[in-house]
Amino acid sequence: MQKYAKMVIDKDFKIAEIDKRIYGSFIEHLGRAVYQGIYQPGHPTADENGFRKDVMELVEELNVPIVRYPGGNFVSSFVWEDSVGPVEQRPKRLELAWRSLETNEIGVNEFSKWTKAVGSEIMMAVNLGTRGVADACNLLEYCNHPSGTKYSDWRISHGVKDPLNIKTWCLGNEMDGPWQLGAKTPVEYGRLAAETAKAMKLIDPTIELVSCGSSNTQMPTFPQWEATTLEHTYDYVDYVSLHQYFGNPDNDTENFLAQSMEMDHFIKTVIATCDFVKAKKRGKKNINLSFDEWNVWFHANEADGDTMKNHPWQQAPALLEDHYTFEDALVVGLLLITMIKHSDRVRMACLAQLVNVIAPIMTETNGPAWKQTIYYPYLHASKYGRGVALQPVLSSSKHDTKDFKDVADVDSVAVWNPEKDEVTIFAVNRDLKDDITLTCDIGNFEGYELLEHIVLECDDLKAVNSAAAEAVTPKQSDETKVDGRTVTSNLHKASWNVIRLGRRA
Ligand code: AHR
Repeated sequence: MQKYAKMVIDKDFKIAEIDKRIYGSFIEHLGRAVYQGIYQPGHPTADENGFRKDVMELVEELNVPIVRYPGGNFVSSFVWEDSVGPVEQRPKRLELAWRSLETNEIGVNEFSKWTKAVGSEIMMAVNLGTRGVADACNLLEYCNHPSGTKYSDWRISHGVKDPLNIKTWCLGNEMDGPWQLGAKTPVEYGRLAAETAKAMKLIDPTIELVSCGSSNTQMPTFPQWEATTLEHTYDYVDYVSLHQYFGNPDNDTENFLAQSMEMDHFIKTVIATCDFVKAKKRGKKNINLSFDEWNVWFHANEADGDTMKNHPWQQAPALLEDHYTFEDALVVGLLLITMIKHSDRVRMACLAQLVNVIAPIMTETNGPAWKQTIYYPYLHASKYGRGVALQPVLSSSKHDTKDFKDVADVDSVAVWNPEKDEVTIFAVNRDLKDDITLTCDIGNFEGYELLEHIVLECDDLKAVNSAAAEAVTPKQSDETKVDGRTVTSNLHKASWNVIRLGRRA
């Protein structure tokens, strides 16, 4: 059968105004993310605070609106008080989640400075593993209360006069996971999170709170975890978190490229569970979704196991340094398309993570920062995916893979930016053998012309980038034509495509 893809878009078929925070990311005190990642005094590009300017430039190019911090699993034994005040007095601690040495040279205030410098904001996580309500409240008072109290005055005494004004807070991390320090049952977590949330909103009613969802879809308690915990937290929280990582350990690329369907199913299940709790409570508000950890993660697993087991307590060991292939970039593109399609309920998301640790940006300790393959779909989505997500009426030929049925050969979504008068179509051709023509009826976007068609493709699905060379880099395609309201694009086999339409000045 002839392979095909047809799409209809229209200004009036709207999913939602996208919350820019779905293009968020994550920096954890893990491996070389902080130390030797964003912070490396003595590096030729370091600024007066020790922040690497080469890294900052790449983060600014990505225009990352929010960065989750400081973990991750790290947060579950984080003693935030160790990370503030005079640096020379800060204690070194055994960091139990990653069995590393934490020097606390970078803490809450330094990270806040860094996020401001790169034009971003913090999504702060509190420790509900080994700590509880009081510690979370103290941290919030330290960060957000103007002055005149123990912790706000403590902040001021540390040289930070103005409140950090952190608006988004995660109530712990992956509390359902047996690996988590202080892991909890759903009832234990639900009660603790509700009481913490209640107290935090008394301190600062303007904050938004994220209740921990399941660590992934394979957790035995998924989705009962969401149902039980939200029954406790519903009145106090605004979001529930989703985490999921994808991988290709069996080297089955077709199956790997279909895994965005699992993300889609995950999102739909969590929405259904949130709405069930809302109905049960006769609630008025929706609980929205914060997909605050997502990415491909599998390449470095074996090496990481060895480092943590046999070489513990190093400062900034190389951990989770996955080197991403071209096919990983296609999956990241498909995951972004999936989240944009659910942008009415997925209001925040964090590509996990940002620098060195399962990251789009890598650093050489004695050299430059460089872009992994996955940098590009993330860049394109963050840059051109702002505005209104349009409901795509999409039909495509399909195929089956080992774990998935009826996988669309082409997946696509479009975003309309009314301010710039532009529409961007994101499309992945998952087919590994054939080019496929995408025919798109652009409805009432009259007079729109082709601005550019960017394509990311590579003959070698396993190609990786490095500090020395970019094997995978975007280029311009001349295979899109606009004729009246019909856009016809030749999508090369195994390719990520960004088709930008607008009015030429
Ligand atoms: O992002 C790496 C780790 O993955 C995080 O610390 C944890 O939350 C998840 O399991």
